[in-house]
Amino acid sequence: MEIITNVTEGVINKAAKALKDAHLVAFPTETVYGLGADATNETAVGRIYSAKGRPTNHPVIVHISSIKLLDKWAIEIPEYAINLASEFWPGPMTLILKRSNLAEDFITGGQDNVGLRVPNHSIALALLTEFEKLGGYGIAAPSANRFGAVSPTTAKAVNRELCNFLQIEDLILDGGQCLVGVESTIIDCVKDYPVVLRPGAVTIEMIETITSLQSSTKFNKNLTKASGLLESHYSPKAKVIICADVEPGEGFIAMSTTLTPDGVIRLAAPTDIEQYARDLYSAFRDADIKGIASIKIVPPEGNGLAEAIRDRILKASSR
Ligand code: TXA
Ligand code: MG
Repeated sequence: MEIITNVTEGVINKAAKALKDAHLVAFPTETVYGLGADATNETAVGRIYSAKGRPTNHPVIVHISSIKLLDKWAIEIPEYAINLASEFWPGPMTLILKRSNLAEDFITGGQDNVGLRVPNHSIALALLTEFEKLGGYGIAAPSANRFGAVSPTTAKAVNRELCNFLQIEDLILDGGQCLVGVESTIIDCVKDYPVVLRPGAVTIEMIETITSLQSSTKFNKNLTKASGLLESHYSPKAKVIICADVEPGEGFIAMSTTLTPDGVIRLAAPTDIEQYARDLYSAFRDADIKGIASIKIVPPEGNGLAEAIRDRILKASSR
């Protein structure tokens, strides 16, 4: 496996060819790094599952270069979903739609729906466009971490997660730190109103404004411990505890307005919500690298992106 830091046009071409040849390419998006494979190649997609150690009945998101490819992958698309796609793509939003024949069981986990996203990152978009020029239809890409672990927001983090599980021809494209830092908002568009399955940077308020519809949510909004209920934990090795009462030797994450008590290892002190999202996963990773046993964390308050951050904190603390 090769990590490429200077991602030129030539590198994009090499990576697109690698995908066509059923190899894996990890690439940056604005949310987190994805582990990509040709979404129409069962063997290639199977390698994603083995590299991640992920159960095979989990569906993967198909990434496409533009809204124009939407009806290759989906059918019976409701008008509100078209409105969302027109407004927020490229961007941190995944739409779940009724699948076309192109979306096979190995992509959808046997479900009748497919997750689609146009990422907003120059490297991801260049790779998708080049891959489509070579005859590809889309790149299947879950977050580039081992199953249940924290999503990587840098190429170095991808390498740490997956170096033992990738093969010699696989590539990691380095696009620096991801700007959003938490995974895309997932919106189920199969009913006649949107259902938010995972909160993200495209917020419930934004969705309701664009669709003029009342959305519903299917994620845990209460910051109470829900161990065992959540299938994916987004967890560091360190124990994550939602609590401001931090002891010396423990890691601590809170907004910068909360000071660091003596002897406490400050892992992040974001000054705003955007920075909180961007730095959360690297703070978790940092704790593991430093061998910290427990992290106390004060979740941000408010709606919008703060809701997505609380969702990830809750998942990280639920095990
Ligand atoms: O920001 C993101 O969405 C990143 C970047 C790489 O695009 N991707 C990502 O993928 O977070 P992943 O696989 O780590 O998380 C996607 C979630 C999974 O929990 C999966 O079960 C769900 O989306 N999902 C994918 N396709 C689905 C479908 N057809 N129906 C319901 N859930 C689906
Ligand atoms: Mg993931």
